[in-house]
Amino acid sequence: MGDNVVLVGFMGAGKSSVGRLLARHLGRCFVETDDMITAREGRPIPEIFAAKGEAYFRALEEETLGLLALKSGDVIATGGGLPCREGRPAALRTLGTVVWLAGEFDVLYERARRGGERPMLAGRSRDDVLTLYRSREAFYREADLSVDTTSIGPDQVAAQIVLALRSPAVHPGSSGR
Ligand code: S3P
Repeated sequence: MGDNVVLVGFMGAGKSSVGRLLARHLGRCFVETDDMITAREGRPIPEIFAAKGEAYFRALEEETLGLLALKSGDVIATGGGLPCREGRPAALRTLGTVVWLAGEFDVLYERARRGGERPMLAGRSRDDVLTLYRSREAFYREADLSVDTTSIGPDQVAAQIVLALRSPAVHPGSSGR
């Protein structure tokens, strides 16, 4: 069982901003799977999708997951789709405590739309994205704990996670599910 903190959740949940703050609070390094993929490929995610397609990107996520086994004591933010395959939630839990940044769909959707280019939103209606969200929720729900980010900012979310991690009730695999 690793000692990382792994953030999961849909696009717009705030994984990057919360992760950065959380790492600072905890005095740990911050790692993002999307950054690992960008560095490996030498180009940004939207370009990877455009040039090679989603299946290629998902294969890179699989490879990245393997590399995460080398991490210890880090705060790791995952891309919104990474946990959403058979066996992935369990694989993530071996890395440490998995935290789901949850929230009301429309709030997440608006944040995601405002927050830069996202290939999974391109050419999709709100209803398409809602369908995607619903297909993923069960995977996120397998996290060890969750924080509802609907009406609080990244600072408060990070503070709640710090508190939850200190709580004796939080043992990976035993709570929040
Ligand atoms: C994706 C989410 C993105 C990124 C890629 C695919 C997804 O990360 O990994 O565009 O499938 O939901 P964020 O969740 O940080 O936006």
